Amino acid sequence: MKNRFAEDIAEGLAVFPKKLSSKYFYDGKGDKLFQKIMAMPSYYVTRAEFELLEQRSAEIVKALGPSNHLNIYELGAGDGTKTILLLKALEKAEKSFTYWPVDISENILETCRLNVLEVVPSAEIKPINVTYEEALNYIEYDEFSTNLIMFLGSNLGNLNHPQAIEFLKKINTRMRPQDWLMMGLDKMKSPAQILAAYNDAEGITRDFNLNLLHRINRELNANFDVSKFIHWPVYNPESGTCNSYLVSTEEQEVTIGALNKTYKFTDSESIHTEVSQKYNLPTIEWLCEMSGLELKSVYTDKQELFYECLIKNLE
Ligand code: AVI
Repeated sequence: MKNRFAEDIAEGLAVFPKKLSSKYFYDGKGDKLFQKIMAMPSYYVTRAEFELLEQRSAEIVKALGPSNHLNIYELGAGDGTKTILLLKALEKAEKSFTYWPVDISENILETCRLNVLEVVPSAEIKPINVTYEEALNYIEYDEFSTNLIMFLGSNLGNLNHPQAIEFLKKINTRMRPQDWLMMGLDKMKSPAQILAAYNDAEGITRDFNLNLLHRINRELNANFDVSKFIHWPVYNPESGTCNSYLVSTEEQEVTIGALNKTYKFTDSESIHTEVSQKYNLPTIEWLCEMSGLELKSVYTDKQELFYECLIKNLE
C-alpha cells in the first residue's frame, strides 16, 4: 500500500459508519481554507483566544512563577499570532525564554519565526518541523529551566475523549513537576453560536470539509463526484460535541485507483470527518485526572467564550 494516508482512507471507508480523520484536511489547499476560517466573523474561536491572551497574558506569566529560563514548546504553532502576545508579556516581565514552535508545515514555521522577530526582536527561536507526537521527543531538559508545552486553538477538541486522554498521557510522561502544560480549549456555549461557527453562509467550512474528497481524488487517483456530497455539522449540547459529516446525496460508487477498490454509498449515507469538542470545567478536570494531570488555573476572555488552562503533573 502507498502510504499511511492511503491506509487510513481504505480503513475508514471500509467500516460502517464510514469515517475519515480530520488530520487529513490540512494539505496546501486545506491550510489556506483554515486560514480563511480563522478570519471569518462566525468562527469566534481564534478571535476569542486572541482576546483572552491580550487580556490575560500578564497574569498567566505571573502564574508560571519564577524560573531562570523558560523553554516554550508550542505544538501546532501556525503563524504564531496568538503566542506573540504571551512572548511580549514574558519580555515585559524580563523573563528569559527560548521559543520552539512545532508545525508540520515548513512554510508556516518560517512565517511564525519572522512574525515573532518583528515584535520581539531579541527572541531566541528554534523551529521544529515535525508532527505533534514526534515533537515530544525533541523536548530538552536541564535542571535550571522550566518547560512550558503549549497546545492552543482548541486543537485537543479534534480528538475524541479516549484519544485526548491518550495524547495527554503522552504529554504527561514528558513533564517534570516544575513543568507546565498550557492548553486553549473552546468553552461550551449557545448551540446556535457553535453551530454557526461550523456552518458559515459563505460555505468556507463546507469547502474545507469537501477538500478531503478533492485530496483523495488528487493524491489517490479517486473519482469522488464532490458535488454529490453535502457538508453537515451537528452540535450536541449534552455532550458538547460538534460532529461534521459529508453526506452522499444519492446512491453512488466511488473508485480509488491507488487502492484498487470501489466503495458503495447508499442515498444519504454519511462519512464522519471531524469532531470539534467543546468543554466545561468538570470535563477538563476529568480529562486531566484521567491523564495523571492537574488543572491548576483557568483563564477566560471577557465574553467567556474560551478557556486557557494551566496544567501540571498530578502530585
Ligand atoms: C483546528 N480545529 C481546532 C478547528 C476546529 O474548530 O475544530 C478546525 C475547524 N474545523 C472547522 N472549522 C474549524
